[in-house]
Order: sequence, then structure tokens, then C-alpha cells
Amino acid sequence: MSNLLHLDASLRRDGSRSRMLSARFAQKWLAARPDGTVTYRDLAADPVPHLDEASYTTLFAEPAERTAEQAERWAFGDVFVQELLAADSVVIGLPLYNFGPPSSFMSWLDRIVTPDRTLGRLGDKQFVFALASGGGYGPGTPRHGWDHREPWLRHVFDALGVTDPVFVTAELTLARESPMMIPLDLGEASDQSLADALSTIDRLAA
Ligand SMILES: Cc1cc2nc3c(=O)[nH]c(=O)nc-3n(C[C@H](O)[C@H](O)[C@H](O)COP(=O)(O)O)c2cc1C
Repeated sequence: MSNLLHLDASLRRDGSRSRMLSARFAQKWLAARPDGTVTYRDLAADPVPHLDEASYTTLFAEPAERTAEQAERWAFGDVFVQELLAADSVVIGLPLYNFGPPSSFMSWLDRIVTPDRTLGRLGDKQFVFALASGGGYGPGTPRHGWDHREPWLRHVFDALGVTDPVFVTAELTLARESPMMIPLDLGEASDQSLADALSTIDRLAA
């Protein structure tokens, strides 16, 4: 039986493109695997607390030598690690906030990167990043290279043993909303980007 871990991080519930893409992946993935299971986490609605000192130091303490606080933090953090280890596929909906990933995602990431259980060990899993950005950052655009999510995620997940993560992006999502973008008349390009992203998602989930 296959298991999908589905994460979202957009602060928007209505109109979120990253949620639309990740939900579509989960729906199609499950349709193709009727006996599959999905574990869902909404990192925006139910934020993971920042890693604190006890949560970090417990990673390096001998189990018998953990303080009560460290033991509690170990058990708390292990839930996220086990959810990830149990997954065959992982889809993560990620908006672009200030040219990088949302901090809600970083809090989760700091929990799951652990030397003994995940670093270099996740190479057997499919990772799909369902991305949304208000602007466009492709080749030829004035801000090409300003979307730091993908290069950064490639480095982090390479360290986790994931050499072939897939990135699917719906861009220009603010084309019809932002006073700065409306004059650029990019509404149709925004629609096309979403349509292309949905069709890529369908192919990946099949
Ligand atoms: C706090 C915040 C910061 C943002 N920063 C950027 C940014 O740096 N670049 C950009 O293109 N869009 C930016 N946006 C717009 C979002 O990327 C855009 O609305 C995207 O569609 C969000 O994903 P969602 O549709 O899943 O909610 C920002 C939005 C918010 C709320």
C-alpha cells in the first residue's frame, strides 16, 4: 500500500494556487491508487513551532541521557520525521513569500532534517513541489533568478538524498490583482501558467 504525505503552506485558504496544485496532485494520486493513504498537514493553519534549544540538542543526546524536556521534544519532533519516512510520495504546496519559501515550511523542515534518520536517506521517495508566485521569474524577465525557492530546495533535498525533485509552478498569480501588475496585461499568461501546471501535475500523479 502506498502513502502520500501532502503538505500546504499558503496562508490563503481561498484562491491559493499552490493549494489548488497540491490538492489536485493528491486527488489524482489517490484515484490512481485506490488502496493508497494520504497524510495531510496544513503548516499555515496548524503551524509547527520553531526549533528550540531542547529540540535541537536532543538530536545529539544519548537516549538514556536526555533530560525530561529533551525527551518530550524528541517525541514531538519524531512525529514529523515518521510521517515523512512513511511516505512513498510527498507533495508540498509552497507560495513565494519575499522571494523565498514561507517560514511555516522552514519550521517543518527544521524538524525533519535529522542526522540519523533523514539526511541522505530520502532518495526512495517522489518529491513534488507545487509552487505559486505572484510575479514571473523565468529567463528573460527583469527579475530572473529572484525566486530563490527552487535552487535552495534543490540543495536542501540533495542533502536529504533526493536528487530528482520536481518543481511545478503557477506564476503571475497576481496579474489581475496587484495594482503594479494589472497594467502589464499578463492575465492570459497567468491562466496559461496555471493550465500548464495542472496538466503537469496530472501527469506526475498518474
Ligand atoms: C507575505 C507575502 C509575500 C509575498 N512575496 C512575494 C514575492 O516576493 N514575489 C512574488 O512574486 N509574489 C509574492 N507574494 C505573492 C504570492 O507569491 C502569490 O500570491 C502566490 O500566489 C501565493 O501562493 P498561493 O496562491 O498558494 O497563496 C507574496 C505574498 C505574500 C502574502
